[in-house]
Amino acid sequence: MIKIAPSILSADFSNLEKEIKSIEKYADFIHVDVMDGHFVPNITVGPLVVTSLSKITKLPLDVHLMIENPDKYIESFARAGSKWITIHQETCNHIHRTIQFIKKLKIKAGIALNPATPVNTLTHILPDIDLVLIMSVNPGFGGQEFIPHTLKKIEELKNIIIKENYQALISVDGGVKLDNAKKVAMAGADILVAGSEVFNSKNPAKRIVMLQKACE
Ligand code: DX5
Ligand code: ZN
Repeated sequence: MIKIAPSILSADFSNLEKEIKSIEKYADFIHVDVMDGHFVPNITVGPLVVTSLSKITKLPLDVHLMIENPDKYIESFARAGSKWITIHQETCNHIHRTIQFIKKLKIKAGIALNPATPVNTLTHILPDIDLVLIMSVNPGFGGQEFIPHTLKKIEELKNIIIKENYQALISVDGGVKLDNAKKVAMAGADILVAGSEVFNSKNPAKRIVMLQKACE
């Protein structure tokens, strides 16, 4: 069954505990968007907030680092309680080294691809990673429109993973809504990240169940 990772970017930051408790029984991960104002034109949270979140939930924290020089901060995010750390392909000069570093810390390692970054940039690292995060919007903000062409990237990546028998999961992030969730799942997503669709709805828990059902 498809897994849902609600992104707290669209949650009420003055009441994150209440927001997370409201979805805890239904979500599979909590997706935390870390933005530095350099790699992306927005600034969000750092390891301190991840530490606080790890105290209030048992759900795995899926930390999406949209930051330059991720190597500098990986250890802090690991200590803060991240279970999954995803770095961007576009931010790493020595991505193999960065992935090995994350894995040495016993954290699941993911790589995110911006909409214009080809899947084949991962050819020689795919066997080593636990997750690929296909960005279906340009990273930086919640509530943007899904870019339809990214469906082809999901299919391309899924075919490689199946053919080579790799373990990496495919997560899709950006503009995932009730009306496109099934298409994204059919293209090959294992995990749907959903921010505004979940937290801007009146009943976030129910919306997660609806997303799961839409993919059946
Ligand atoms: C965008 C973030 C996403 C964002 C998705 O840069 O990586 O995780 O929260 O938000 P929605 O689901 O509203 O597009
Ligand atoms: Zn994200």
